[in-house]
Amino acid sequence: SYSAKIGPSILSSDLSQLGNECKRMMECGADYLHLDVMDGHFVPNITFGHPMVECLRNTLGPDPFFDMHMMVSRPEQWVKPMAAAGANQYTFHLEATSNPGNLIKEIRESGMKVCLKTEPIAQAGLAIKPGTTVEELAPWAGQIDMALVMTVEPGFGGQKFMEDMMPKVSWLRSQFPSLDIEVDGGVGPSSIHKCAEAGANMIVSGSAVVSSDDPRSVIALLKNVVIE
Ligand code: DX5
Ligand code: ZN
Repeated sequence: SYSAKIGPSILSSDLSQLGNECKRMMECGADYLHLDVMDGHFVPNITFGHPMVECLRNTLGPDPFFDMHMMVSRPEQWVKPMAAAGANQYTFHLEATSNPGNLIKEIRESGMKVCLKTEPIAQAGLAIKPGTTVEELAPWAGQIDMALVMTVEPGFGGQKFMEDMMPKVSWLRSQFPSLDIEVDGGVGPSSIHKCAEAGANMIVSGSAVVSSDDPRSVIALLKNVVIE
């Protein structure tokens, strides 16, 4: 058994203070940072791109692991710029590309530096929206480091956790015992147990952590969930 890794999503934080917010999350015990990139096309919202990531890397130094959640229509376009900006993992959406295999290869060859000191280490991530079946992801599972099962429709923080996505996580866990499986959307103290039971070991939590008066305690609580 092992405990889950926690990656706060800084989408719901004061974006004018992004560097400080990331620092605060790492000081509060975060294992990695989940950075949500939205292009206003794949999802109906815009956040930031690789220039912001480069600034964050310069401000935060080499240690924090940047898990880039690419909610963009042409994920092929940003692999090299994100690698150059200091990203560690590039998670793209299966729905956004016609050639996942090629993209996984490009990510692997991009020289994206892995610097997460604690296990699990991951580089290529593949995400599925709630409407996409896990069978569609399965053919690529042997080539990726992490599968991201979305537990809300991507686009906005602060939405309600979709418990009916848990069978996807359980199935992936049973078929691919050593695959990192991340859940993202509405995850917090009230849904963490369901995620852990299903077998998720990388936990994204946005509003539950960032908007809390005591993010350190929330992160500790989420981390303390033991996965069998
Ligand atoms: C949603 C994003 C999530 C989101 C998580 O499109 O991918 O990372 O910000 O935030 P919460 O935990 O508030 O749902
Ligand atoms: Zn996300």
